[in-house]
Amino acid sequence: TTMTKPQHFLDISKYSTEDLRKIMEASKQIKATRNGVHRGQGPLAGKVLAMVFEQPSTRTRISFDVGMRELGGETLMLTGAEMQLGRGESIPDTARVLSRFVDMIMIRMLDHDAVNELAEYASVPVINGLTKVSHPCQIMADILTFEEHRGSIKGKTVSWVGDSNNVLYSWIEAAAKFDFKINVAAPNELTVPLDWIEKAYTSGAELSVTDDPFAAVKNSDCVITDCWVSMGDDEAQTRHNLLAPYQVNERLMSEANDSSLFMHCLPAHRGEEVTNEVIDGPHSVVFDEAENRLHAQKGIMAWCMGALPEG
Ligand code: CP
Ligand code: NVA
Repeated sequence: TTMTKPQHFLDISKYSTEDLRKIMEASKQIKATRNGVHRGQGPLAGKVLAMVFEQPSTRTRISFDVGMRELGGETLMLTGAEMQLGRGESIPDTARVLSRFVDMIMIRMLDHDAVNELAEYASVPVINGLTKVSHPCQIMADILTFEEHRGSIKGKTVSWVGDSNNVLYSWIEAAAKFDFKINVAAPNELTVPLDWIEKAYTSGAELSVTDDPFAAVKNSDCVITDCWVSMGDDEAQTRHNLLAPYQVNERLMSEANDSSLFMHCLPAHRGEEVTNEVIDGPHSVVFDEAENRLHAQKGIMAWCMGALPEG
């Protein structure tokens, strides 16, 4: 039998602006028409999503689970440690076996190459639920959130302050696709790696990198930060020392545009990367971001399954 490749959702950089826009607009529509969708009757009725978590999660886990149910499907919650994967069963074999049972796989695993390998051997769609290198579903939810509050993100400026991590990399990939400018402020020791800067320029992203948080947030429409110690990071104390000057507090926020939003993918470490005044303040949209994981991922799952609502 000839097999057509399943439609994965792995990294923002892999998909066309047209497809990403299609998902984004569908997510908005799905959100607007959320009421009245009953379990068992949605576009993914009869389908099963397997979720594999090698790392903890609150938002990703719950939003995929609820989202799949709201689309009419069912979910299986698995942890790598409880599967034979944790005892060394190979990624290709795991992909082949899961593909015989379920219709779609969402996986959170630090090893980015392993997720790509799973996608290569799976005959069902694989969705990246965070790796050490990217967090594409988060950025789809974040852009949805920005656009709900401020209209099209095209031509806007977003600023990332703090550690260069998976969430930042997906923001950088999105900058070229959705055509916005991105400023990064990070200490030299934790700045954007050269290969990412090169990738950004090759992709056409307007990226500027500095070690000065005040310069980075000037004229910004959205200030974003994330934890100082991501899953899988060591040297927590060194990171805290290096990143202390990059806390997003009211003084830093006041350098951004008055209408600037504040975003954080959560979980937040209040008093570290962000103060209570900012995360609970008038610029903050962090809980809209969290909610929008649900709506964005319903769009992504429907797209992967060829079941996007008619625009
Ligand atoms: N933002 C995010 O992915 O949160 P979880 O780790 O709780 O899933
Ligand atoms: N950068 C964080 C995001 C958590 C959702 C991490 O990788 O731990």
